[in-house]
Amino acid sequence: MANPPVQLSLQTTQGKSPSTQVPSSLTPPVTPIAKERPPRSTPSPIQDPKAAQTPSTSKDNVGTLQFTDDLEICHDENNRSLEFGRGVWSIVYKARSFPHPQTNPPGTPPSSPTSRSQVLAVKAPLRRDARPVLNAEASTLTRLTFTQGHEQYIVPFHGYHAPLGALVMSAIPTSLASYIEDQSKQARTHHTTATMFDPVQGPASYQDLARRLITGLNWLHQVAAVVHGDIKPHNILLRPIDTDDCVEAPAFPFQPLYADFSATVDIPVHAEARDTTRASMSSFTPPFTAPEMLASLTSTEMAPTPASDVFSLAATLLAIATGDLLLYPNMNHRLRLEMARAGHQIVDFARSGVSGSRVPRNGFVERIVKPAVVKDPAMRITTPEWVQLASC
Ligand SMILES: Nc1ncnc2c1ncn2[C@@H]1O[C@H](COP(=O)(O)OP(=O)(O)O)[C@@H](O)[C@H]1O
Ligand SMILES: [Mg+2]
Repeated sequence: MANPPVQLSLQTTQGKSPSTQVPSSLTPPVTPIAKERPPRSTPSPIQDPKAAQTPSTSKDNVGTLQFTDDLEICHDENNRSLEFGRGVWSIVYKARSFPHPQTNPPGTPPSSPTSRSQVLAVKAPLRRDARPVLNAEASTLTRLTFTQGHEQYIVPFHGYHAPLGALVMSAIPTSLASYIEDQSKQARTHHTTATMFDPVQGPASYQDLARRLITGLNWLHQVAAVVHGDIKPHNILLRPIDTDDCVEAPAFPFQPLYADFSATVDIPVHAEARDTTRASMSSFTPPFTAPEMLASLTSTEMAPTPASDVFSLAATLLAIATGDLLLYPNMNHRLRLEMARAGHQIVDFARSGVSGSRVPRNGFVERIVKPAVVKDPAMRITTPEWVQLASC
């Protein structure tokens, strides 16, 4: 039997203002991910009255795009909420929206069924200390959403749902992480020596994807003036490209969109400027984190930089080419962390792995990855140069 829609009419109680202190520990190598995973026992915000607290009224909320329509979290036949995925900070629920009754001017007919048909993704806090992180992410997403060109590069953001402390986005159910896993599974089933020197998905498709990702990072750095801070395959979503609109179908049939801006900071005008409300080091995943950032874990905390983003995207590009989502498969967490600390050797490490043949010397993959992983961050390629290099 289908579940009746449940509206999020929440009883708000005066909650303690959330702590801005964020714990600093490494995440497991892979953020949990699923296209639409089987529901878990964690209550959804509508089932958990503790989750419904008075939203922060700090100055961070001022100017943040608000989502005021009613939300309906989708449930399965056992009345358990459906999830798109979860990360360190959040659970991302599958949801639908319908306009708030008051927003319909008097005399207008009720909204058409099509206005209800859009599937949404609602990123709700998983822990109490995630609320200020999501609040800051909403503020960043607002700014990015008002920056020209955002449609091509970032996840569509519809606003901050204050009662839930949640971000409302368009649902983009495929992530780059799941794509990499699918492609490498296919390559294992249809193994052929003819393509063993190519990136798993094939050279043309890989080059198209690499160019789009690099162009997107260039937009973030040069146009939006932010450092993403946590680039990895789990934080990049893939929106299918409607080929009807294209003269020629693109080699890679998805538009990659950057998501998860929980660790994002403005490109600092002064090196010492730091945003302490951010997820910061706590959300980092070793194989994709620049070695200088990992070194700083033991000393004073360091904000991510454009150069550390460039490293993370280069590591992502290697993972795409080899099909090894963890970059160093069959290794325990401690060893992987040690290799990540020597991240400037990442191409050699990948080449000595089981899929090393997919990164041939002087091939496209090595040419675009090498200048982006050099040890000294000041010597790493910048995104405008990288765009040029990737288009050759
Ligand atoms: N707009 C979206 N549509 C579909 N799935 C999403 C969307 N945003 C995030 N997800 C899924 O939820 C996971 C966690 O979201 P993310 O923003 O990365 O949270 P966290 O900051 O906790 O890591 C992602 O890895 C992705 O699988
Ligand atoms: Mg994430």
